[in-house]
Amino acid sequence: MESTLPTKNWPDNNRISMGRESANLEGLNILLGVSGGVSAYKAVDLASKLTAAGANLKTIMTENACQLIMPKSFEAVTGEQVYTSIWSSSGDFKISHVNLVDWADMVVVAPATANIIGKVAGGICDDLLSTTLCVCWQKPALMAPAMNNNMWENPAVQRNVKAIQEAGFKLTGPQEGRLACGDVGAGRMTEPAEIIRDIEQIASQIKKKN
Ligand SMILES: Cc1cc2nc3c(=O)[nH]c(=O)nc-3n(C[C@H](O)[C@H](O)[C@H](O)COP(=O)(O)O)c2cc1C
Repeated sequence: MESTLPTKNWPDNNRISMGRESANLEGLNILLGVSGGVSAYKAVDLASKLTAAGANLKTIMTENACQLIMPKSFEAVTGEQVYTSIWSSSGDFKISHVNLVDWADMVVVAPATANIIGKVAGGICDDLLSTTLCVCWQKPALMAPAMNNNMWENPAVQRNVKAIQEAGFKLTGPQEGRLACGDVGAGRMTEPAEIIRDIEQIASQIKKKN
């Protein structure tokens, strides 16, 4: 069945190519979404490397991600508060899902669970990350799926993956290899260094456009 999802209009009607160009990340505002996959710990390394490269990072974690890794880890490496609830307890009442998207030059979700991919595909907004991703569809957005290989190969998950790609989300990975559960197959999150190369390619197109 053809997806009826609208397509992003950035840039050039939804086409961010993953070519070989790259840009430095100095001053780039990156909104990092972390969902509840076992590779969430690798997202701390990603956040640390992006911050070291000069990017400004704000992080949103799902409740399930917070079961696997502490928000403090991201706060420590980014020097920024981590957002975990749509009902922010922050004193900064100006921060909401909409403001976070306005602030961002691009959005990266790593790891992206089967669940968050399904929510984005279905337009479901039941927590801060899914609501933010529903707002951000006109921004450059990159997802790094990570899950068990049977989950990844599930036809429903593949339908959702296709739907988010049609909506303009770029994907990096997943890669084949040994998974946390001990199985071998497709489902490993792309390594942070490689995700950064993908981000640099997208950043080069943002800079060219501006
Ligand atoms: C230890 C553990 C590891 C998990 N790893 C993954 C994973 O890598 N990918 C995935 O899609 N789900 C994984 N799950 C299941 C998700 O946490 C679950 O589907 C959850 O609803 C995802 O919620 P979120 O997308 O809101 O973070 C894992 C669960 C547990 C308990």
